[in-house]
Amino acid sequence: MYQAPRGTVDILPAEQSYWFYIRQKAAQTCQLYGYERIDTPIFESTNLFSRSIGKTTDIVEKEMYSFIDKGGKQITLRPEGTAPVCRAYIQHGMQNKPQPVKLYYTTPVFRYERPQAGRYRQHHQFGYEAIGDNDPALDAEVIDMAWFFFESLGLSKLTLLLNSIGCSKCRPEYLTSLRQYYHSYRNKLCVDCKVRLDKNTLRLLDCKKETCLPFAVTAPRSIDYLCHECKEHFRLLGGYLQQLGLPFLVNHCLVRGLDYYTRTVFEIQPQVGGAQSTIGGGGRYDGLIEELGGKSTPALGFASGIERIILNLKKQSVVIPPIHQPQVFIAHTSDRVKNEVTKLASSLRRASVGAFQTTSSKSLKAQLRQANNIGVRYVIIIGDEEIKTGAAILRNMTTGEQDIVSIAELLDKLLCQLQ
Ligand code: HAM
Repeated sequence: MYQAPRGTVDILPAEQSYWFYIRQKAAQTCQLYGYERIDTPIFESTNLFSRSIGKTTDIVEKEMYSFIDKGGKQITLRPEGTAPVCRAYIQHGMQNKPQPVKLYYTTPVFRYERPQAGRYRQHHQFGYEAIGDNDPALDAEVIDMAWFFFESLGLSKLTLLLNSIGCSKCRPEYLTSLRQYYHSYRNKLCVDCKVRLDKNTLRLLDCKKETCLPFAVTAPRSIDYLCHECKEHFRLLGGYLQQLGLPFLVNHCLVRGLDYYTRTVFEIQPQVGGAQSTIGGGGRYDGLIEELGGKSTPALGFASGIERIILNLKKQSVVIPPIHQPQVFIAHTSDRVKNEVTKLASSLRRASVGAFQTTSSKSLKAQLRQANNIGVRYVIIIGDEEIKTGAAILRNMTTGEQDIVSIAELLDKLLCQLQ
């Protein structure tokens, strides 16, 4: 039997209320903060991702779903949402619009990772990007928006972690110090960290192996190496966050897994579960638009994994509003009246009354059982006799009471009772 590919899941109807709820809250949040929706293709040129995310990152080295298409082009299924939005910003001349340009997306994302709880090979992200402003007040707004979004979903017990990893001016000196520090522990590092030492020094701080963790604690801190501008940016951001009443922790080991970040990086983690269950992360990427061929343009953004949000909503027992199903079921006692049933069902729907109708030839008993299982509030029963008299039986499924109502008055009666 065929199965969904490893690391992917079918989102069945029973789960859809979570997805509907989250997407709705995401759209409402974006409207409140002035973000417009953007949809970019599900695949892009491989180069776009390797150039922006960084050739030595896990995503580019090990996790991308890449292939050569029939025209010989190197293509990759989107492993994240920021680079495509930046590509679209440049391609469509959005630098000529009032800045910052604020865009959001909800989209599937593909990463060939080892599947486990909350980690998939196809997951879905809600993300947003604010492009064209380097003011730390915008960093505060982006972080506040992420916090507001989780709050509006009903999530609590979250931790906001913050760091600044500097810019192209001050980071090289920091990296030299970090490399020197780790070099003295070289023999004690895990195999991956030995490679990181030469290829991606910053990521040494992010190693989750027990044996490497103690080295990160006492490692040099990026905030001690910031240039004047980066230091000022970080100081002002801290001030704004305090004004907003957002409790944050500066975490010197927070460096993120993508190379495009500059200055501000942040993550939101559930208090139980830690880094492995991060529900969202983001930061500044002031060099990315230029790296991709645009004019030098500061920017920042955030993204959150919808599957991880659902995991946390369930853990925290947040009650999700159900998706409304039709409240009326039209049953019939004979195939001869199916015409009338079809007509009635259609006219109810056009008057915004959702209705199920039986299309097959089931016994009335079976139809009523089905209506009961669905949980509708009203059943309309139509038979030969009812057609002759121009009436139908209207049964209230909660009280069990039933009336004979003329078909002409049925709609008004239902509209009144379903309010
Ligand atoms: P990221 O941290 O790689 O950032 O992913 C964002 C979020 O997606 C994570 O915090 C996590 O909730 C979720 N996520 C990541 N990988 C998986 C997975 N394999 N399975 C389930 N959920 C996952 C980015 O992608 C950046 N583009 C965020 C950003 C936007 N930075 C600036 N703007």
